[in-house]
Amino acid sequence: MTNQEKSIHSRFEVIKGMEKFVGENIDSLLKPVNESWQPNDFLPDMTANNWKDLLNDFRARSINLSDELLVVLVGDMITEEALPTYQTWLNRLKGITDTTGASDSPWAQWSRGWTAEENRHGDLLNKYLYLTGRVDMRAVEVTIHNLIRNGFDPKTENDPYLGFIYTSFQERATKISHSNVGRLALKAGEERLQKICGMIAGDEARHERAYRLFMQKIFELDPVQAILSFAKMMKVKITMPANLMHDEKDNNLYIKFSNVAQRVGVYTAKDYAEIISNLVKGWNIENLKGLSDIAAKAQDYLCNLSERYLAVAERLSFAGTAEKFSWIYDREV
Ligand SMILES: [Fe+2]
Ligand SMILES: [Fe+2]
Repeated sequence: MTNQEKSIHSRFEVIKGMEKFVGENIDSLLKPVNESWQPNDFLPDMTANNWKDLLNDFRARSINLSDELLVVLVGDMITEEALPTYQTWLNRLKGITDTTGASDSPWAQWSRGWTAEENRHGDLLNKYLYLTGRVDMRAVEVTIHNLIRNGFDPKTENDPYLGFIYTSFQERATKISHSNVGRLALKAGEERLQKICGMIAGDEARHERAYRLFMQKIFELDPVQAILSFAKMMKVKITMPANLMHDEKDNNLYIKFSNVAQRVGVYTAKDYAEIISNLVKGWNIENLKGLSDIAAKAQDYLCNLSERYLAVAERLSFAGTAEKFSWIYDREV
């Protein structure tokens, strides 16, 4: 076996050895279905006799959402709607794979439970946006179609260590993004959307806790490989899962969407730096002892990383020029 093969093999053993731990924690990390919210809880009841009034009231309240806010909301919704890609990705991580499709293994239970909870996010935001009548749903759907066809490669190499570092980061990023959209919605007088974003952000927060806990355990069991993986993932950088979105018109769509998110403070370079520092503190990287030379170097790199990103973030400016978005009938934002 080459060194790389050995390290992959031992990672697989570590992950397999964690099954009991995951099984013991799964009930606190996933919500029972009968206690879970569903998209229908936040949408006008189309079966009610007064559905027209309910719908009119619903639409009246979304009238003050700005084009900027609509663009970030659509981008977040499209990201959530590419869930088939993420489930496929999660299921490829070595040791996590659901070998039958309905396996009882704790990892398979986690990945299906996680997917089922996430599935509500795109579902709810999609229906919300459709009912507002404020966006070009066909253009949005074309973007989702393309995104799922194009896929997404976060450079995690089917390695569960890299995978869980990625998801710890990513769940926190989506939590921040949904919370900030909620905050802007409230400012625009749309309490219902704030509530919706808050519920979704709550799920993301619980999922973040889960992935951080899995990774915490890996840090206990295999600290050297864990810290090397953390440093490796940070060097690769965390690519957002919707970076291959396309609306058949605009080759810069993802960049434009990210620029708007940055400009309105929904997800910024400062958030990126904050997430790094939060993970470094949470996994107690600074105080890991007994590391090899190469792992100690990774420790050093990680402990200074957030400061470096913060310094860059301070210098960034995203004023830019106004850009058109097909999602809102080519209006400029
Ligand atoms: Fe989500
Ligand atoms: Fe999530």
